[in-house]
Amino acid sequence: MGQEVVSKGMSACSHGGVYSVNPNLVKVDCSSSINPLGTPKRAIAAVKKNVASLAPMYPDPECRELKKRLSHYLRVDPQWINVGNGAIEIIYWFAQAFAKNRVVIPAPTFCEYELASHKAGAKVTLVALNAFEIDADQIIEKARGADAVFLCNPNNPTGMIATREIRKIIESVGSSTKILLDECFIELTDEPNTNSMMSMIEKFENLVILRSLTKSFGLAGLRVGYSVCTPSLLDKLSINKIPWNVNGLAQTAGIAALADKKHLPKARAIVKKERKFLYDNIRRLKKFSPIMSSANYFLVDLHGRNSTQFRDTLLKKRGMLVRDCSTFTGMGTRYVRVAVKTHRENLQLLKALEAFDRG
Ligand SMILES: Cc1ncc(COP(=O)(O)O)c(C=O)c1O
Repeated sequence: MGQEVVSKGMSACSHGGVYSVNPNLVKVDCSSSINPLGTPKRAIAAVKKNVASLAPMYPDPECRELKKRLSHYLRVDPQWINVGNGAIEIIYWFAQAFAKNRVVIPAPTFCEYELASHKAGAKVTLVALNAFEIDADQIIEKARGADAVFLCNPNNPTGMIATREIRKIIESVGSSTKILLDECFIELTDEPNTNSMMSMIEKFENLVILRSLTKSFGLAGLRVGYSVCTPSLLDKLSINKIPWNVNGLAQTAGIAALADKKHLPKARAIVKKERKFLYDNIRRLKKFSPIMSSANYFLVDLHGRNSTQFRDTLLKKRGMLVRDCSTFTGMGTRYVRVAVKTHRENLQLLKALEAFDRG
């Protein structure tokens, strides 16, 4: 049964990415899990074409055109969509708006839920995963009387999908408890439509679904995230929104990216094939055990070796950056997370791991 784990409080959160280490050492960043194809070419072209006209101009504070495109993409009314400076901005809005006294968060998961809730002044109840699986009954029980629950599907860092359990939680938690369901990685799983809860937003007025173009369309540097919920919840959620929160180039890139209908299906096919390739080959090694996931990243068990030291060694010797998972609350020190990238990059990672295995 899932148990409570202790929150790390205000100091809990750190991330991967080249700036988490000495950026000059990084040849391949396998710590950030974004679309292996990167940014769609047409989004790059749109930024280049529009930079001179957009740079001196205030952007649309309501992101109207982008919302229209998102509305087509998601088949939801634009009035149900909020756009943020990355999904991260919306996580902080959510915490500031709703996390007054106590929130419930499974652990391990994306650390910003915990930090944002602490910063909003809420007490955090963490519920440990069971062999990396979410314990729906424990979450439901702990959510009694809580202001909010944070959920992530697929979860970060495990990459595991928990659609059935998450549906049960949404259906069981009281309507006064707000739910933030983070689906930022769902579009890169094999069956996003089956696993997404997007169809439940009309029925559940306490549900906010969070998505991001930073991962699905490789716009991490430009920062575009969005949420979907009922208009009345949206008003409360965005009470702390500042004007012009999404810059004009990010809006233009997002609009162009969404017009590329092939980018995501192509990336999904690569992720499916390459995840298996990387997993099967890491599995053959003596010093590592990969843990299968449904996402564009998965965990690797280092058989007791320290994950921070391992990350630093692999970076120094081979220029390969993996995500040290010791900073995820409740994760311990024996796991790293690797992103599923292009075949060439995955081969580079494998070579580095094979050299370590022999050493
Ligand atoms: C699960 C999860 N949600 C949200 C975010 C933030 O996404 P964005 O880049 O859109 O702010 C991250 C970033 O790593 C994440 O892992």
